[in-house]
Amino acid sequence: MSQTTAESPIRKQRAQLNVRTLRTDRWWLTPALTFAGLMSFLIYGFWAIFDKSYFAEPYIAPFSSPCLATSCPEGARFLGLAPFGDWYGLPPGLLILGLPGGFRLTCYYYRKSYYRSFWLSPPACAVSEPHTKYSGETRLPLIIQNVHRYFFYLAVVIGAILAYDAILAFRDEHGNWGHVGLGTLILLANAILIFCYTLGCHSCRHITAGRLNHFSRHPIRYKAWTFVSKLNARHQQFAWASMYSVMIADLYVRLVAKGVINFPFA
Ligand code: FES
Repeated sequence: MSQTTAESPIRKQRAQLNVRTLRTDRWWLTPALTFAGLMSFLIYGFWAIFDKSYFAEPYIAPFSSPCLATSCPEGARFLGLAPFGDWYGLPPGLLILGLPGGFRLTCYYYRKSYYRSFWLSPPACAVSEPHTKYSGETRLPLIIQNVHRYFFYLAVVIGAILAYDAILAFRDEHGNWGHVGLGTLILLANAILIFCYTLGCHSCRHITAGRLNHFSRHPIRYKAWTFVSKLNARHQQFAWASMYSVMIADLYVRLVAKGVINFPFA
């Protein structure tokens, strides 16, 4: 992020225009669509967190997984654990919301998208922003965005748990393996997309091979870095694909749990 401030010499050298932009294309379309997409996720997430129909054996809704409270129904509790107890009766999804939520909120791509679409800072290239001061991410509160690398480690754990949920979805409601329903495939596709998004993280790329001077001396790290770099090149696409896949998977399980979806291969 640039460290330009309102008082900096660079700012003073900018052309003084009395219009917001000289662009004549539909520059507002991308931030408008981004705003709509992110808002749909926030609105759905708010509803889902408080919705109680999150378990339809063998499926558990991703927004409520891992379920770690005593209020989780029989079979939904992750490895039978309940470290949160009943924690003021808060919904299980709310108790773990900070992990995936913090990861996405501090993601480099999402930062760009909500800085542009929500804060208009700036809304697009060569379009002036309404704010007169800009300190970037060099001081509070935005300097906190640097915790992203730590959220990455937690997100790997969450991704592994969603993969575990997808594997458990190959059982039927009696615990017998071999079941493949539409829900199994949806949860599996979601787990794969979540991993593609998580492992394509810029922090992961740095972890695999950051600060290496000689790839030839670290062939395994080089291979890992090459793989992660391929995912990283499509990080924006995986950010959107995994955001919608987790919503679709979550909604699907809730509709099955509510009895709205009730066909033989659900
Ligand atoms: Fe997007 Fe890390 S940069 S998840």
